[in-house]
This record gives sequence, C-alpha cells and structure tokens, in this order.
Amino acid sequence: MPTVTLHSVGRHFAEVKAVDNIDLAIEHGEFVTLLGHSGCGKTTTLRMVAGLERNDTGSIVIGGCVVSDASAGLFVPPDHRKLGMVFQSYAIWPHMTVFDNVAFPLSVRHVAKAEIRDRVTTALRLVEMERFADRPAPALSGGQQQRVAIAAPWCSSPKCCCSTSRSATSMRGCARRWATSSAPCSGGSRSRPSTSTHDQEEAMRCPTGSL
Ligand SMILES: Nc1ncnc2c1ncn2[C@@H]1O[C@H](COP(=O)(O)OP(=O)(O)O)[C@@H](O)[C@H]1O
Ligand SMILES: [Mg+2]
Repeated sequence: MPTVTLHSVGRHFAEVKAVDNIDLAIEHGEFVTLLGHSGCGKTTTLRMVAGLERNDTGSIVIGGCVVSDASAGLFVPPDHRKLGMVFQSYAIWPHMTVFDNVAFPLSVRHVAKAEIRDRVTTALRLVEMERFADRPAPALSGGQQQRVAIAAPWCSSPKCCCSTSRSATSMRGCARRWATSSAPCSGGSRSRPSTSTHDQEEAMRCPTGSL
C-alpha cells in the first residue's frame, strides 16, 4: 500500500490554478522528486500533503488514513499528520542553539528529556553536525543551517518528510543514512521523503526510487 496518495488533488488561488487535479502515489521507502518550472505548483503540492494548505478538490491519504477530502469537508491539521517539512527558508529559530532547534519538535510534544538527548544526538551525527550542538543558530553557515533544518523533522520519525529545492540532495543523503542506521529514532522503519525542485540537474541527482 502506498504511504502517501493524492487523488485528483487541486488548489486555486483566486484565478490562479496552482495545482490542477494531480494523482500521485508514494510507496514505502521511496524517494520522490517533483520536477517542474517555477510556479507550476510543486510547493503548493507539498504544503497540501503537510496540511499547510487546504486542497479544494480531491483527497490525500497518508499511511492508510484520509487526511483531507475536499468533497467530504474533511481536513486533518498539520500537527496530526506525523509528517516532517524542511522549509525553503529553513525556519531555524535564531535565539536557540543547534541542539535546541533540532530538539524543538520533540520538546513541544513533551518527549522525555533523556529520549530527546538520544534522538537529537543521533540526528546531529547523521547530518554531521554533532560538534556544533551548542552553537547559536545565527553563527552557522548556509550549509550548516540546511543540515539543522533537515535534522529537526527527521528526529520525530515522520511518516513522510517533504523538502523544497535547496535541500533535495542533502535530504536524499540523510534519508539513506537514516534508513540504514539502527538509530532509536529511525523506529526500525524507513521514512518516506519527497522533495520538490525546479533544478533539473538536482532532480537527476535525486532520482525517484528506493533509498
Ligand atoms: N498563497 C498564495 N496566494 C496566491 N497565489 C499563490 C499562493 N501560493 C502560491 N501561489 C501561486 O500558485 C502558483 C504555484 O506556486 P508554487 O506552488 O509556489 O510553485 P512552485 O513551487 O512550483 O514554484 C504560482 O503561480 C504562485 O504564484
Ligand atoms: Mg516552490
């Protein structure tokens, strides 16, 4: 059974048809790249999967549960979808250290402190940022910020992790290491990443397929 399925999903913004009736099925352990020109609807598609945007046609199923069905008026909010999202702008808190940024999604869910430490340490090791754990976020390079942005959602063992253009290649590397690690936060199963990019060369480096 596919982990993520989109059935005739569409989204309009006034007269702009951002996404027009797309069908997509992402299988367990599959890495999927959405490739298309700027403005063709890649980010809107990922935002609808994450629940940050509401589809006005069609339905979205994640892990066998319908999370959005426009005709039935059903909509599960993002915090109940168990997904990860790496934002194009990275969305890193500037007043926190690297460790606290990666720990944040677990802290707000009141995960036990010892477990947070284990998961964050493992995630930082996988993105090769362990030695920067105590560094304030504003003192990071662009590449280091990207790795923090990738580590944070992976820490929560998401059912699927979405990312946008600038992170696609790093996401695949991280996902592959995660899938083969015995990390407690990998949950013994592989999370499904999907990315979007307008960069054809990057898409070729991250082909659709198994990790
Ligand atoms: N909140 C919004 N309000 C109005 N138009 C939007 C909004 N979000 C996206 N769009 C429009 O929808 C189209 C698809 O945008 P987007 O999904 O961001 O494209 P991509 O990620 O493929 O570059 C674009 O024409 C964009 O301007
Ligand atoms: Mg985009």
